[in-house]
Amino acid sequence: MEDTKLKMKVHYTDDEKKSLSKTIEDVFIRFTSVMKIAQIFEPNNVAFLQQLKPFYFIIQSLLKNLGKAVLQFRGNALFFNTIRIKIDFHSYQRFKFLVGEFKKKEIEAIGFHADLTAEELTRFIMILAKSREKNLKVFEDFTTEMENQGIKNIFLEKLNPYDISTRMTPEEIKRSCKKVFLKGIVHLQEVMEREKKHEKIHFKTTRRLIQSIINLISFDESFMLGMTNIKNYEEYTLNHSINVSILALCFGRRLGFEKTELVELGMSAFFHDIGKLEIPIEILNKKGKLDDKEWEIMQEHPMRGATKLVLLQDLSYFPVRALSVALEHHVWADHSGYPKNWKKKEVNLYSKIVKICDVFDAITTKRIYRDFSFTRQQALSMMFEKVGEEYDALLLKVFANMIGIFPVGSLVALNTGELGVVVETNPEEAFVTRPKVKLVTDSTKNKIDGEIIDLAEKEPESNQFKRTIVNTLDPEKYDVNIPDYFLAQAVG
Ligand SMILES: [Fe+2]
Ligand SMILES: [Fe+2]
Repeated sequence: MEDTKLKMKVHYTDDEKKSLSKTIEDVFIRFTSVMKIAQIFEPNNVAFLQQLKPFYFIIQSLLKNLGKAVLQFRGNALFFNTIRIKIDFHSYQRFKFLVGEFKKKEIEAIGFHADLTAEELTRFIMILAKSREKNLKVFEDFTTEMENQGIKNIFLEKLNPYDISTRMTPEEIKRSCKKVFLKGIVHLQEVMEREKKHEKIHFKTTRRLIQSIINLISFDESFMLGMTNIKNYEEYTLNHSINVSILALCFGRRLGFEKTELVELGMSAFFHDIGKLEIPIEILNKKGKLDDKEWEIMQEHPMRGATKLVLLQDLSYFPVRALSVALEHHVWADHSGYPKNWKKKEVNLYSKIVKICDVFDAITTKRIYRDFSFTRQQALSMMFEKVGEEYDALLLKVFANMIGIFPVGSLVALNTGELGVVVETNPEEAFVTRPKVKLVTDSTKNKIDGEIIDLAEKEPESNQFKRTIVNTLDPEKYDVNIPDYFLAQAVG
């Protein structure tokens, strides 16, 4: 039975992945063609055989080299032997059909064994393609039919019913991102109120919230990152804590954190400024510069935060690392910063991560004492001026990479004269300057509710890119409210 499980661990180098990607893309495209043709023709038809042969051949060569070939459809992503296959926009359109077919049939993965024969492959494709005629509906119908037809070298794995990505459309995922974001704000508000009344804090709820954010990030990282463009001027600490948690979680994912580590990181980020609860509001919200005494009080918030967390009764749902983060998130890489009496040898990795996310969110937000905010790009370049001194050099690099050259939420000018808001970065390294952009003005700068366009798209005749970014702009100067574009996508 173990044989039918698709839990295969294969490690590939980056170069191997690249060359494999092209082949796998070919597999998916050929699979699509053969499935389409099988819906019309019988297996002995020439047209069918013409499509089947190259498909069988390519699987055969993969099996010969790798021993096993597993195609997996997870959400809208495709995997081959656990490697995620990066697909360009056009190819994706080509095998969207295939992904849809598998979803309908509750199939998450298809695996081929080395002894696969062309006859078996034909029988299998016919089962899938003629499922409606044969009244095969649920996953189990397919596996039974495969058994009946003696197919031994192909195996299927069922969709995980708990995998929300398979049950949700991209729009539903966006709506969930918005909901979780708002829930986070409400929850933190509740935490603060309970704290004031010395009531028990429901860390279990925080944990669940962070887990939902982690899930949603794995389905739509760009959109979740886009939510951090929402800046509520009035309730800075609430908004800020959620934003820092989202940034830290995306960051942790890039660093390869395991899920349990991510939960700890997210919770630590969520409570990093809990000590501010004890700082007088007049100081927190002071319009002008803080005087020496006020600044001293302000600098107490890390220690007060850590102490508060230590004193909490119920630590069973609470990560101990959060104490370090509350205490150390203003300690610099060169150990300056505050608290002044901090004298450890090494700053906790989680604290270093939260520090970067904390500053990034703070300077990209308008504050009571500063009636402007920096753009995300400006923020990054300001931070790089203090690399090594204030921020860990390696971490800052990874962070900048995650935020991207044109961060989600940037307002950009295109060579067509149109303006657009970046809504999704392009994961392909070669296309980092070609994100997806929602058009917000036409070429004469009239405001429009434009479509989302992929800047990686080319003109078919000339093979030239349709549009290119020429400049990043300050949204405020152009009277563009960035959060609106994210919220508009998550209506409902
Ligand atoms: Fe802080
Ligand atoms: Fe903070």
